[in-house]
Amino acid sequence: MEQLLTQREVPAAQEQARRARFPLGAALEYADLAEAGREGALDRVREHEPITWAPFIGGWLVTGRDAAREVLGRNSGLTVEAEQNLVRAAAGRMMLTVDGDEQARMRKPFEWPFKGSVVEDYYAQPIAELAEELIDAFIALGTVELDDAFAAPFAIQMAGYSLGLSLDDVPAMTSIYSAIAGGMDYVGDPEPIRAAERACEQLNEILLGELAKNRLNPGHSLTAVLAKDPQGLSDDEIVAQLRVVMFGAIETIQASVLTTLTLLLQHPEQLAEVRADTALLGEAQEEARRLIPPVSFIERWTLADKVIAGVEIPAREFVGVSVLAANRDPATFPQPTDFDIHRGNANKGLSFSFGPHACLGIHMARLQTTIGLERLLTRLPGIKLVSADAPSGFAFRRPTRVTVAWDS
Ligand code: HEM
Repeated sequence: MEQLLTQREVPAAQEQARRARFPLGAALEYADLAEAGREGALDRVREHEPITWAPFIGGWLVTGRDAAREVLGRNSGLTVEAEQNLVRAAAGRMMLTVDGDEQARMRKPFEWPFKGSVVEDYYAQPIAELAEELIDAFIALGTVELDDAFAAPFAIQMAGYSLGLSLDDVPAMTSIYSAIAGGMDYVGDPEPIRAAERACEQLNEILLGELAKNRLNPGHSLTAVLAKDPQGLSDDEIVAQLRVVMFGAIETIQASVLTTLTLLLQHPEQLAEVRADTALLGEAQEEARRLIPPVSFIERWTLADKVIAGVEIPAREFVGVSVLAANRDPATFPQPTDFDIHRGNANKGLSFSFGPHACLGIHMARLQTTIGLERLLTRLPGIKLVSADAPSGFAFRRPTRVTVAWDS
């Protein structure tokens, strides 16, 4: 039976002392990390308390980039294997919620299909075809809400394609994904976690069915390859990894496409440069993900007593990393709130995490975002922003509605 770490209860007197020692962290609220336009609160915390006590998450909050790398890096002395891990509660036991040899065993079979060269060869064409097909469906309208019409189906259908799944029911998949993502928010309410568990069960059923189908009709997809040669993983374990590969690939790609396009449309001079040289799309998306990280919050727990950024943290305590705050650390990113595609070091942001759990799909993410944006900019002449809500979200962050128009 697997032993999970149980988060330590902090005695009241110690908790009070921490509030007094870290007044800026003590004053932080959920809304400071979740709502649009409140990022300034994190800037103030980072300046004085790069790791701080944040009572609203019942743990430590890391806002400095160096401290964040220390927490996420290999052999950091922190773990994901805790009973209180919200990603595990929402999405189950899989490579992202186990450590060490067990994580390596679960991740390994999925590594080569997501290598840069393999991804380019296998997916560049289907990604471009899917983008064309989606744009064809709305191009005559002259205006569209881009999440519903493009970003969501682009992310969901491509995740389905790479895994060999027939995920055509985009609204159903969207609702499953929203429920799972909702379980990762620190709202202090058990209902979102129960909804995430129900969504996970629904998804498991779909994925087990797809695995069986792939066993009968083997093809070249990742699911078909694993169905044929499970490399020591049981069906339930394969499905658990498919769940995280899919989960990792949907909400985040949606965010990456919408955020990068919105920021470019809000900065016409930089958009003109990108139009003139589409190779700049690489820098543009990296910078957009630095400023508005699609995954904005990462969870870890201390295995033993540990000093982080000069602060002694006892064993079995929760340490949350605010990627949003770390990516705006002025020590690494001068004028951190500016969107600047020529910054030159945007890839030093932690948007794909760092260390053993660093994103498996980084090459896929870059390729898909590049092709999606390149197709939108090419096919929609004179594209401009009609309206976009400001990016928000605690665990996952993006603008939810982006309406654009073009010369039809
Ligand atoms: C812009 C898009 C993406 C972003 C910003 C992103 C971000 C992340 C982050 C921050 C983590 C680590 C979380 C942690 O350390 O606790 C992660 C892990 C992961 N990502 Fe991504 N991701 C993206 C796209 C993708 C895609 C396209 C795939 C698959 C095709 C994918 C698959 C995964 C998997 C499987 C993991 C778990 C790795 C492990 O624990 O070993 N991601 N991603």
